[in-house]
Amino acid sequence: MSGAPAVEALTETEARDELARLAAEIAHHDRLYYANDAPEISDAAYDELRRRNQAIEARFPELIRADSPSRRVGAAPAAGFAKVTHAVPMLSLENAFAEADVRDFFAGVRNFFRRPADVARVTEAAIEVMAEPKIDGLSASLRYEKGRLVLGATRGDGVTGEDVTANLRTLKSVPARLAGTGWPDILEIRGEVYMEREGFFAVNAEREAAGEAIFANPRNVAAGSLRQLDPAVTARRPLKFFAYAWGEASAPFAATHEEALSCFRRWGLTVNRRSRLCRGVDAALAFYREIGEQRAELPYDIDGVVYKVNDLELQRRLGMVSRAPRWALAHKFPAERAQTVLHEIRIQVGRQGSLTPVAVLEPITVGGVVVQRATLHNEDEIARKDVHEGDTVVIQRAGDVIPQIVSVVRERRPAGSKPYVFPDHCPICGSLAVREEGMAARRCTGGLICAAQAVERLKHFVARDCFDIEGLGAKHIAAFWEDGLIRQPGDIFRLQAETIATREGWGEVSAAKLIAAIDERRRIALDRFINALGIPQVGQATARLLARHYRSFAAWRREMEAAVDADSPAYAGLLDVHGIGADMAADIVGFFAEPHNRDILDDLEREVAVLDYEAPAHGAASPLAGKTIVFTGGLESMSRPEAKARAEALGANVASAVSSKTDYVVIGADAGQKAARAASLGVTTLDEAGWLELAGLGGTAG
Ligand code: IVH
Repeated sequence: MSGAPAVEALTETEARDELARLAAEIAHHDRLYYANDAPEISDAAYDELRRRNQAIEARFPELIRADSPSRRVGAAPAAGFAKVTHAVPMLSLENAFAEADVRDFFAGVRNFFRRPADVARVTEAAIEVMAEPKIDGLSASLRYEKGRLVLGATRGDGVTGEDVTANLRTLKSVPARLAGTGWPDILEIRGEVYMEREGFFAVNAEREAAGEAIFANPRNVAAGSLRQLDPAVTARRPLKFFAYAWGEASAPFAATHEEALSCFRRWGLTVNRRSRLCRGVDAALAFYREIGEQRAELPYDIDGVVYKVNDLELQRRLGMVSRAPRWALAHKFPAERAQTVLHEIRIQVGRQGSLTPVAVLEPITVGGVVVQRATLHNEDEIARKDVHEGDTVVIQRAGDVIPQIVSVVRERRPAGSKPYVFPDHCPICGSLAVREEGMAARRCTGGLICAAQAVERLKHFVARDCFDIEGLGAKHIAAFWEDGLIRQPGDIFRLQAETIATREGWGEVSAAKLIAAIDERRRIALDRFINALGIPQVGQATARLLARHYRSFAAWRREMEAAVDADSPAYAGLLDVHGIGADMAADIVGFFAEPHNRDILDDLEREVAVLDYEAPAHGAASPLAGKTIVFTGGLESMSRPEAKARAEALGANVASAVSSKTDYVVIGADAGQKAARAASLGVTTLDEAGWLELAGLGGTAG
């Protein structure tokens, strides 16, 4: 958000535009976080968006939108579970980052109680709050009727959640019946479902071994585990539940929050024993600092501290504002950097042979994500940052995804430490590793003899966006390769259940399952197939472009083999595919020029059927499905990338040059020769209005 103009400097129009943009952006991140358990940005970045939204709304209250994020909590429930309307909405919390915000909160509570009768009781120094570690999990509601658990639900959007009763019942810390006595007939206990770091590591290790995608952090794995359609899967995940609040209660059962927590404990629920009653703001802040220091040693991830006014009568009177209670505050930890020890620099050899140094770290949580590896990019980076093995380093997550090494803590460098010497030979095959002029990476020259490259290519071949063979993970590929069971992609399809069943860790059932999963992939979409080949620079997006353009494997292969001749129409045709430049074309043609690759393709063709490209279903009904379209000149109503995206979403193939195969040419302002060429070839031309019409956007121009 840095770089955004100050809120004070915004004009009304700018503010209106930005509120609209923020509403859409926050809704997008809410969906990723709540419905897909796959956030793209850090909590800190997300909070920053919300804060900016709030600040703008505070300055321009008349511009608050009906769909403002400040009026919503979370996202609507995903399909798959029955919906549950919470008897009492599940609220969110107001966030604070600075001590000053916490002092404002205490002052606000005091100011709320200005009546003389209250003043003595509610002085700022004496306001009692329960301070609780804020666990980074997901909240859930447990409804008990006559002491029996009848319903367990996720928060969802705060009003409607998902019925995950069967899953919640599998947690040891969720009692099926309340213990003791004195509980109200109807009681909704609320709290956090979470996973300890250790359990998170174990789940990820298991998934990695099985070739499944690993979870980014304990919160995501807890959310994913709770929202499993099969409770047996949830049962195998070490989830826990801390009780810290309640919803509907048919009778009062406590006068303070502290008392309520002790009731919960007596009734068999788990309450965080680190929670503490604090009298006044200074005590609360001291707790925050203390917990912050213990953070790394706690068995679970926390992202701050929650303060709750202890007196329930005061809570009731304070009430709530939009989505959060006025009696509680989440005091978050700042976006984090952390120090840890770099044990070792390991060299990974990619499928193209590049040597990438990876730092193996003492595991540590940074901004809610457990980090054990960080990229060091290349040898220059190691030299520039002067990183030695054994150093204590400062790490941070760049773009909140890939952990990076920021700097070395020189004072903590062990005596006798030596600079790291980057290998000039491939650590796997021993071939010379060279650095070409102008290249950042050193490459293994072993090519086809390098086991690392071969194994990486095979791993890529079975990966999710490629053949996606379930149960054939990276570790299996490496082991099968080691034992000579697979040397090239086609070998995968010749694996025998009997051979696999006798291997360690395998049995007849698992082997049969693997073979079935492999057989299931004997028919494959063209774009996946192209992606699986691992041609340098050709990833998923380019593979799609090629598939859409050439339509069948036979046509593509024929053209690519012909394109070896740079003067051929086939080569020109390849360059004509929008999004393919000369560099990429050289790599693609180079792949086909290599006899070994053609052998691999011949071999694969005997094992699998590559399906012809089919335009996406939603585009099938569109007049653009399967058509080739060229844009020339500027459009008023949308940018070129947007026009292209729109055309592609409708199943069209966007080309850059006009040929006799072009179906439409859209002619915008100041169009050049392409318009003339279209006319001479007799290709249908459209003006902007015609394009909008065709794209189903008629009438929205201007
Ligand atoms: S109280 C009305 N207490 O933080 C009170 N929430 O940012 C609602 N959380 O949705 C929540 N630890 O998922 C509360 N000790 C704690 C908490 C806690 C973690 C989570 C919870 C909530 C979110 C709000």
